[in-house]
Amino acid sequence: MSGTTTTIGPVATADAHARAEVLLGEAQLGGVTEIAGTPADQTQGEVQPGEAQDAPAQVPPQVAATPLPALTALDEQGLDVVFRTARTHWNWTDRPVTDDELRRVYDLLRLGPTSANCSPARFLFLRTQESRDKLRPALSAGNVDKVMAAPVTVIVSYDPAFYDQLPKLYPETDAKSWFADNKELAKDTAFRNGTLQGAYLIMAARAVGLDAGPMSGFDNARVDQDFMSWRGWKSNFLVSLGHGEAEKLPPRAPRLEFWEACELL
Ligand SMILES: Cc1cc2nc3c(=O)[nH]c(=O)nc-3n(C[C@H](O)[C@H](O)[C@H](O)COP(=O)(O)O)c2cc1C
Repeated sequence: MSGTTTTIGPVATADAHARAEVLLGEAQLGGVTEIAGTPADQTQGEVQPGEAQDAPAQVPPQVAATPLPALTALDEQGLDVVFRTARTHWNWTDRPVTDDELRRVYDLLRLGPTSANCSPARFLFLRTQESRDKLRPALSAGNVDKVMAAPVTVIVSYDPAFYDQLPKLYPETDAKSWFADNKELAKDTAFRNGTLQGAYLIMAARAVGLDAGPMSGFDNARVDQDFMSWRGWKSNFLVSLGHGEAEKLPPRAPRLEFWEACELL
């Protein structure tokens, strides 16, 4: 499932441009080839769902996917790890979570898509007893033990001023101005994409062999005040991470059937 990243540039060759177009056309998943310095007029504008009404059409980033030898999918075990066997956990073994594992989780989740590559989520990894004690007063009564018992709890947050990073994250055009001049659009975009990135965190954690316990039962305003007021970030939800005790899980609650939740149009 892993790929490589190759940066070509700043002076991309004609061959590289041609190769990029072919690869983009094939829409393969896998490693990433970044082609710096590609003229913007060689690209097509793209409208982002959700932000489309107010935001100008976007120019896609100069990134081409390098194909894997064959298009692959997760095998049955992979599907179990990420979805079928994976559960929301509240009871944890003594096995620690290392900082390297947390970095690995972040390095995966950051690759999940966000509109205009805006990447508004910010993550506070609470690993110490002291940091968890600081969180305790903000937790709903029923969530206190769940957090205190976990090796790590992440405060999934977002930066309302995420657009300050767009010159780096989406350099093809002046995307910053779309949001800096439209507070409502910026707010919706930060929350929508920050929440998506929180979901990517859960899936990335599972993919590297960790269990996750997401929760929203806490006082967001208090967490914002106690942990991030000086930065202006906003908390969204919490995710505890660790190695769960599967034998303590209750039976899985039912899910909606396809016909109840989906429509084929
Ligand atoms: C955003 C979010 C917030 C949640 N908040 C809480 C919470 O405050 N307390 C709690 O006990 N469980 C909370 N949960 C856990 C859900 O109830 C649980 O993920 C869901 O029932 C599915 O369980 P399963 O993954 O074991 O099938 C939350 C889950 C999510 C995704």
